[in-house]
Amino acid sequence: MSRPSILSTHPLFPEARTMLDAGCDVEYWTRLERPSRAEFLKQVAPKDGLVCLLTEKIDREMLAAAPNLKISANVAVGYDNISVPDCTERRVVVTNTPGVLDETTADFAWTLLMTVARRVVEGEEVCRSGKWAGWNLDQLCGGDVWGKTLGVIGFGRIGRAVARRSRGFGMRLIYTDAIRAPEAAEHELGARFVDMDTLLRDADFVTVHVPLMAETRHLISAERLRKMKPTAYLINTARGPVVDNEALYQALHAGTIAGAGLDVHEHEPQIHPGLVSLKNVVLTPHIASASVETRTKMACMAAENVLAFFAGRRPPNVLNPEVLV
Ligand code: DGY
Repeated sequence: MSRPSILSTHPLFPEARTMLDAGCDVEYWTRLERPSRAEFLKQVAPKDGLVCLLTEKIDREMLAAAPNLKISANVAVGYDNISVPDCTERRVVVTNTPGVLDETTADFAWTLLMTVARRVVEGEEVCRSGKWAGWNLDQLCGGDVWGKTLGVIGFGRIGRAVARRSRGFGMRLIYTDAIRAPEAAEHELGARFVDMDTLLRDADFVTVHVPLMAETRHLISAERLRKMKPTAYLINTARGPVVDNEALYQALHAGTIAGAGLDVHEHEPQIHPGLVSLKNVVLTPHIASASVETRTKMACMAAENVLAFFAGRRPPNVLNPEVLV
């Protein structure tokens, strides 16, 4: 049987590339910039399988352009770039990379939290500018982290990994989710389940860990931002559109909340120009899972999903198993 032909929209890390090359004929997108839609559609058209990033939109148009496609392996846990129902209708298997990035992403949520609360970026700027005039009592005072209340919105794997780290800071922990966690998990983490309004009212740090879906778009709206304390911080490492970025800008500008740490943005790669102008927000370019170890694991998982499928095995991370029966 001939080897499946695959498009990978990224050169991947060597380990994943070696895996994939052993079983498939792979065309890699190697340019630094992401492929344009037209380039992507052209390259994917004759392929049997796809390894893609969250920058590629997998929708009806793309599926129509690639009639032989049998699997689309996302190198990400979130898959809001893929219309799973359309793939299922076309009998294209969809896979993602859950589990391997939880701890790395949680580390980064804490990086943002600490950085914004303790004004690390402003401090860095002072040091690099050569304008530091020496120690001063009220210079760059931020907000304490230890002993405060952490509010976690979305208590899945990543939300819980973030929550677990709060124990080292002696924090109170509250969370909200569509589904309450089992008592044992609450007990282990010392977490209290509350409704959204209570969380927004009581938390000193609100950290968001929900997937992007119709119900979570602008979950953090102007109205909800108004419910937060003026001394509170918002952290988003989930998906940009979960937070209304214009409303957040207004809140930060007016000082109705103290600050924000954002790794994800509503219209990536564009960043809200108002947010860029503010000192009380820390901005990073969607890198929460970006450790070499974790991104390598993610790429290997995607490769393994593709290899398993073409070897007639069930891909370990299939999102629409009904296609396989
Ligand atoms: C994901 O996996 O969904 C992230 O956003 C990239 O790590």
